[in-house]
Amino acid sequence: MDAASAPGRDFAAFQARADDVVRHHPVVVANPYTTWFAKGEATRDDVRHLTVQFSVFSHLFIEAQLRKVINAPDLDTYRAGKEILLNELGVVFRPLHAEAAKPLEPGTDPEIVGAEGTVDGGTFRFGAAHFEWLLKFAEPLGLRFEDLGTRRHATSSTDFFCDELLRLYGSADASTGEGASFAVEHWAAAGFWKELIQGLRAFKERECPDLPLGFWTFHDQLEDQHAAHTEEELREVYDTPGFDEERFLRGATQMLDGVYAFWRGLDEDRQTGRVS
Ligand SMILES: [Fe+2]
Repeated sequence: MDAASAPGRDFAAFQARADDVVRHHPVVVANPYTTWFAKGEATRDDVRHLTVQFSVFSHLFIEAQLRKVINAPDLDTYRAGKEILLNELGVVFRPLHAEAAKPLEPGTDPEIVGAEGTVDGGTFRFGAAHFEWLLKFAEPLGLRFEDLGTRRHATSSTDFFCDELLRLYGSADASTGEGASFAVEHWAAAGFWKELIQGLRAFKERECPDLPLGFWTFHDQLEDQHAAHTEEELREVYDTPGFDEERFLRGATQMLDGVYAFWRGLDEDRQTGRVS
């Protein structure tokens, strides 16, 4: 008897529990910071503070993604993790469909490079690293490389979020790691990129016309595609030998708690006037 048909296993019931966790967590239904940010009232100091904290998370995410690759339970998961890792680091996706494969020597602008395809056979460009896009975004805000991206710039809530990413998303326990990935994907697809972009467009128009938004719009496009495949992925995870529902659900919940701590920290900072 294979694991999927073992007594007491019910994929539909598990899927309902997993969906419940990611659909009803407060960071998904009521993120106080991004809801406020979308109104477009953020000051230059607010945008700078968001940029610094987001840069720490984005950079530390690469470390968590590398751990996820190292701890991958099988070759497919290992390769799927490398697609994300290497694209983060600057390998431009090569379109899978020949008709879409136009430039042999791709540019690095996030508004031009594709958010779909594979890093296999793709070209590495320093300027295509997501972190370098964020550096470009930060420049007109008066923030330089040394102001961004490391733990020493983190508030305690950002620090906590990064610790949880490494512990859960990068976990050596496959069920925990898959739960955390499921949570991160759902959070990312639930609309926070769009809320930030809305607020940033208002800020750009009002006082910072040279602000390049490619870092944000690229990620929004990426997430729009990711959301499509999750049910199939969940089924695969569920059928993996040794899969543990409880550890998956705990990993998902604790990961969202970490994400929520990050945004709540930013929300408190804006209300108390803490700036970077
Ligand atoms: Fe990224």
